[in-house]
Amino acid sequence: MRLLNSLTAALLGLVWGVSSTSNNLTDAVTWDQYSLSVNGERTYIYSAEFHYQRMPVPELWPDIFQKFKANGFNAISVYFFWSYHSPSPDVYDFETSGKNVQRLFDYAKEAGLWVIARAGPYCNAETSGGGLALWGSDGSMGKLRTADETYHQAWLPWVTKIGQIIAANQITQGGPVILNQIENEYQENTHSPNATEVLHMEQIEKAFRDAGVVVPFTHNEKGMRSQSWSTDYQNVGGAVDIYGLDSYPGSLSCTNPDAGFNVVRTYYQWFQNYSYTQPEYLPEFEGGWFSAWGSGSFYDQCTTEHDPAFPDVYYKNNIGQRVTLHNVYMAWGGTNWGHSAAPVVYTSYDYSAPLRETRQQWDKLFQTKLIGLFTRVSKDLLQTEMVGNGTGYKLSSSSGFSWVLRNPDSGATFTTIQQASTKSRSNVTFAVDLETSAGTVTVPTVELYGRQSKILVTDYKFGSNELLYASADIAVYGVFDVDVLVLYLKEGQTGEFGLKSNQTLTYKVFGDSSFAATTNTTENSFRYTQAAGTSAVQFSNGVLVYLLDQPTAWRLWAPVTTSNPFVAPNEQIFVLGPYLVRDASITGGHLIVNGDNDNATTFEAYTGKPIESIVWNGKPIKAERTAYGSYTAHIPGAESRRISLPALTRWRSADSLPEAQPDYDDSKWIVCDKNSTLSPTKPESIPVLFASDYGFYPGAKIYRGYFDGVNSTSVYISTSGGLGFGWNAWLNGQLIGGHPGNGSLTNINATLSLPTSALKLKDNVITVVVDYHGHDQTSTAKGVENPRGILGAYLLPSGKSTSTGFKQWKIQGNAGGSANIDPVRGPMNEGGLYGERVGWHLPGCDTGSGSSNFSDSTPLEGLDKSGIRFYTTEFELDLDEDLDVPLGVEFSAVSGTVARVMLWVNGYQYGKYVPQLGPQTRFPIPPGVVNNRGRNSLAVSLWAQTDDGAKLDEVTLFSYGQYQTSFKFSQDWSYLQPGWSNREEFA
Ligand code: GAL
Repeated sequence: MRLLNSLTAALLGLVWGVSSTSNNLTDAVTWDQYSLSVNGERTYIYSAEFHYQRMPVPELWPDIFQKFKANGFNAISVYFFWSYHSPSPDVYDFETSGKNVQRLFDYAKEAGLWVIARAGPYCNAETSGGGLALWGSDGSMGKLRTADETYHQAWLPWVTKIGQIIAANQITQGGPVILNQIENEYQENTHSPNATEVLHMEQIEKAFRDAGVVVPFTHNEKGMRSQSWSTDYQNVGGAVDIYGLDSYPGSLSCTNPDAGFNVVRTYYQWFQNYSYTQPEYLPEFEGGWFSAWGSGSFYDQCTTEHDPAFPDVYYKNNIGQRVTLHNVYMAWGGTNWGHSAAPVVYTSYDYSAPLRETRQQWDKLFQTKLIGLFTRVSKDLLQTEMVGNGTGYKLSSSSGFSWVLRNPDSGATFTTIQQASTKSRSNVTFAVDLETSAGTVTVPTVELYGRQSKILVTDYKFGSNELLYASADIAVYGVFDVDVLVLYLKEGQTGEFGLKSNQTLTYKVFGDSSFAATTNTTENSFRYTQAAGTSAVQFSNGVLVYLLDQPTAWRLWAPVTTSNPFVAPNEQIFVLGPYLVRDASITGGHLIVNGDNDNATTFEAYTGKPIESIVWNGKPIKAERTAYGSYTAHIPGAESRRISLPALTRWRSADSLPEAQPDYDDSKWIVCDKNSTLSPTKPESIPVLFASDYGFYPGAKIYRGYFDGVNSTSVYISTSGGLGFGWNAWLNGQLIGGHPGNGSLTNINATLSLPTSALKLKDNVITVVVDYHGHDQTSTAKGVENPRGILGAYLLPSGKSTSTGFKQWKIQGNAGGSANIDPVRGPMNEGGLYGERVGWHLPGCDTGSGSSNFSDSTPLEGLDKSGIRFYTTEFELDLDEDLDVPLGVEFSAVSGTVARVMLWVNGYQYGKYVPQLGPQTRFPIPPGVVNNRGRNSLAVSLWAQTDDGAKLDEVTLFSYGQYQTSFKFSQDWSYLQPGWSNREEFA
């Protein structure tokens, strides 16, 4: 049946020129071996990975989406983390603040972006537990990621609920969803119909179909490790409609600029082997990489990851191999705020992504854009065959490598060239043979300056015109009153192109690039040397060609006049100059443009229609017409705007470890009374002390263990908190030890001496604080069921695992446990420190003279011995409403400080600083979490891990940049910032 379908589809495809295999559930999204079609139209999918959980302010999702769209993306790929929506079994929140996924779909649609939905149930993504519900961390979810019925029953409500929301937002319902991924990097190791993996895939597929999802299913192979879920390869069940391959080939190093940069050249063959009836899909392609606790450098220092050469060389290499669905993971990484990180990462998930955590654009994004705009308009790219490839293939030198693709219908070819060794930084020059409809054209001089790639075309249509060939990169073209083609090169490089025409064309050149006709082909071919900035050539047939050097091209925008993600070449306006153009339209002779700008600049627009003025962010500016029909104006920046950020002063502070004192009242705490656990991990002592078994998942856990007598000499304590976590124990208020944390240790045990001077005959209490760096993922560790908290404890010399010497243990964690008492900030914002439990991090908490706990002292004074203190302050901001000023808080401490620090802004835990591990010291805080205009509360918890005490050197508010903007960053954010209420019951 399937074969028949594919045959029919292939035949229809030949007739219609569209891809036409469907899953028999909908014709809205179809495919063939070349590309995906949406509503009958072939399209290149240039997608940006985005995790809404990593931005708790939904009003800022459009900021990010507009930047994606402006930078050439036409889709987002989104994980939906079950953990974020389900604080306890049977409780699902799809309404409150950032959990409102309907807003996500609506905003994506408004921005003209399709959505690739990825709801797991397992996601990975460096989020706590890989996105599985944390309430399953007690072992109650059965055998994870198998067909085990206990696991099936656990995830089924999640997939059903999120599946229904996805279904309601499918393209068939007028929504943006075009594809739906099943599980994540789930490997098919045995191709046998009864394998649990096969049954599990089928369970998930059925659940999504039952929920009403009809768009094609996809999957993402975990690198070239196995051959999973393709209908073209040993399909015994569980296969998806469109196979995909994830790839992170960079092997880049933050410290060694020579590491990595070798592209992978086997994708084409891989897809030919395993999914030859389907388009080539890279569901995750490296947009950067995450960084771990204790790593020697922060994202800012990863210069190779930042390099615009990365997208230039790598993404073009993918295009050269016929990839037509391309998702960049991450396109914007965001923040692991609260306790949402998996242990493999720290607070920042910046990822060195093209769009930074601070929502700032940079050159890597701008180069990513040029490739996106090229794929947007290059329709002939959507149906190509591989002509050939190799070192020196069609080149005059073995210093280059080429991929040559050809569209069998139109004859257009695309030749991707790169250096034979893509890590090379030397400059190479060679001649390239291009097979055109007029015979072979040899372009004598094609230069690659170091890590650079180019896509050369032949028989390339743009509007009603056609290039016979071009050896400069095409940024984009547009159809206006005339056809406008935009080419780019690095300054000093030679470009050549031939224009098909039955008359001899004359031309006028504007700008500094030297430009002349060549005799390379019989007529109408031209050679130029790219000068800095913008040049333009106007031909006698009306064609206008912009010649841009690469940095100028980075500031090229092609805002669209349609909300359809599919953009026709006549649905664009071209703008050169500003930092960002969010949207543009022409009304009543005015070009209305909204965007952001850093420095005052010349603004040039090609509109195709006469205009009188350019209205930039609401301000009319008189426009001058250029000789070749574009318009220019001068627009302001934000460079001279005054930003004043207050110093953080007027601190109040209070002890946040009263639990270490023997007389602390823990009568409301939970008694650890379980003698068995569902966890696959065996407890090291009884009772079970695993935090999840008592309903505490995120954040630090506090335990109090009681024993009598003075005969114990030491205590064995085994703890688990995830990589980089730390812990401490106090006997009757006196520090007895712990561990500062280590980026490679998930579990740490120690035998700590008990000072005889501190022991009492009755009711000794050992207080243990175990920090938390998230629940494990299954990809890198044992998974969400790997317990957190205390794994076992007994007194020595006589205690053992069954008879520990303790008479009772009690546990306390985040306020309310799984009750999710702050649904706005969600289930992972808070942990179990005293100050968190009683709400000192929340706005409106009275820390003034009315509060007996608080006194005047600052984190710069700190603690003079071990302990935990909470510091709070307030500050006012009065940033101009038309500015985007990404703010951050920076910490420092003298070297040797052993401490664990958390930062709260208006109740959101937005940073964790561990000076002994690093590397993060600067923490971006988005508008909505911070009030740009108004009052803000800020809190810092400082846990001094040794009796040397600890203090900070610096807690400073700073800005990452300033942009004049049309976007409303100053709003009334109070609904996102619910205030303090009495939480004594959780003390
Ligand atoms: C992939 C995985 C993603 C993410 C990525 C690394 O293997 O599918 O969820 O973990 O690696 O950032």
